[in-house]
Amino acid sequence: MKLWGGRFTKDTDKKVEDFNASIGFDYRLYKEDICGSIVHAEMLVRQQIISAEDGEAIIQGLKTIYRQIQQQDFEFSVALEDIHMNIEQRLTEAIGEAGKRLHTGRSRNDQVALDTHLYVRRVVAEVGNLLLSLQASIVEAAQRYEDVIMPGYTHLQRAQPILFSHHMLAYFSMFARDFQFLEYVRKQADRMPLGAGALAGTTYPLDSEWVAKRLQFSAIYDNSMDAVSDRDYVVLFLEFAAMVMMHLSRLSEEFILWSSAEFHFIELDDAHCTGSSIMPQKKNPDICELVRGKTGRFYGHVMGTLTMMKGLPLAYDKDMQEDKEGVFDAVDNLVFSLSIYADMIRRMKVCKDNMRNALAHDFSNATDMADYLVKKGIPFRQAHAIVGQAVQYCLQHHKVLNELSLDELTSFSTSFSEDIMKALQIETCIAMRQTYNGTSLNSVQAQCARGKAVLATEKQCLQQWEAINRVVDAIVE
Ligand code: ARG
Repeated sequence: MKLWGGRFTKDTDKKVEDFNASIGFDYRLYKEDICGSIVHAEMLVRQQIISAEDGEAIIQGLKTIYRQIQQQDFEFSVALEDIHMNIEQRLTEAIGEAGKRLHTGRSRNDQVALDTHLYVRRVVAEVGNLLLSLQASIVEAAQRYEDVIMPGYTHLQRAQPILFSHHMLAYFSMFARDFQFLEYVRKQADRMPLGAGALAGTTYPLDSEWVAKRLQFSAIYDNSMDAVSDRDYVVLFLEFAAMVMMHLSRLSEEFILWSSAEFHFIELDDAHCTGSSIMPQKKNPDICELVRGKTGRFYGHVMGTLTMMKGLPLAYDKDMQEDKEGVFDAVDNLVFSLSIYADMIRRMKVCKDNMRNALAHDFSNATDMADYLVKKGIPFRQAHAIVGQAVQYCLQHHKVLNELSLDELTSFSTSFSEDIMKALQIETCIAMRQTYNGTSLNSVQAQCARGKAVLATEKQCLQQWEAINRVVDAIVE
């Protein structure tokens, strides 16, 4: 008979059983589920709601089940619907009567909420570590190639020269914001739902504060109905994941372009590319393409979960069982994407000569020519127009700005003199951009230093999170 079968006279339809079951995916919550149950049982004993002997039997029984699942010596049953009932049923089979007391003062509604909170807390640390490693790989690349010059683009048209390190550090900034987002996600998951029961609280003298402390939650839900129906932290996690993927996807697009023959700015390591089954010469940036391609499903998970939630009356509704698959999929793909990317950045080759040569024959220094005139007293708008005419002239005569003679230049403005040649050098264009967030070597080095400070803070944060997550391991082992 089903754990909830008392009021039923007929068996569940087989198709309904399959459709209703979540064990096919929520088995992944077994550690969290067992941990939550152990602490719940400990609390029931402390509050003298169950006897110490029953408590002990429950705890030892649950630990055994944990080991069995870990050793893949546990058969999950679809008839038992989900991870919660699979474990509870097995417990009762193993220890008898006492197992039936575990669910006192608890509902699957607050149970699954607790499991998911613990799970999100766990993966936040896991993903945080990978994000940190990716950020570190970016700072390393920026330092390794700190003075490599490349064209900077807007509209994918050459705009102004920049340092490659500067370009890469822009991504560092994005991922650093993602880490801050992750901190917020964790904060929202850091609230303990047990004690809410099905929706209204329970009639037993539960000690939720003790449970929260034991599991190292910093807060308890204020409202039992919110506790069992809040999935905001799930949506936030998915939004975080979607944002990271959007950033990775942009980087992917750059790497795909840069590794084409047209750009040839970078060469990805063979280990991160694949060949073609027909064209022997091909080396394809599949990883970048896959990351870019997978970004879509992350957006889908955000939309799917938000939409699943939008019409739900309080409190728990079975719709919410749909919150998990998106999260698991996001975790799996994010873990892959982040870790492969960090490796790929560490191993890719930067073709510095190609980057520099791309600037040999173009107009990326046009703004600098205008700035030169401004420094000679010409209003910027006018300087802009003068340089525009010079560019026009160059295009007609197949030249670039630094190939114009002083005579040619003075025909556009008498303010040009000898020193214009130095001002137009690409190296000068870079060196002049000394603003706080600019592309000069000094500014970029300072940016790197700030980046390293960010990494150190993130590391501290992760150490705290990991220490808290180890409490869960200690409880189940
Ligand atoms: N498998 C369910 C889920 O993931 C657990 C909660 C079920 N609660 C209930 N009242 N049927 O949401």
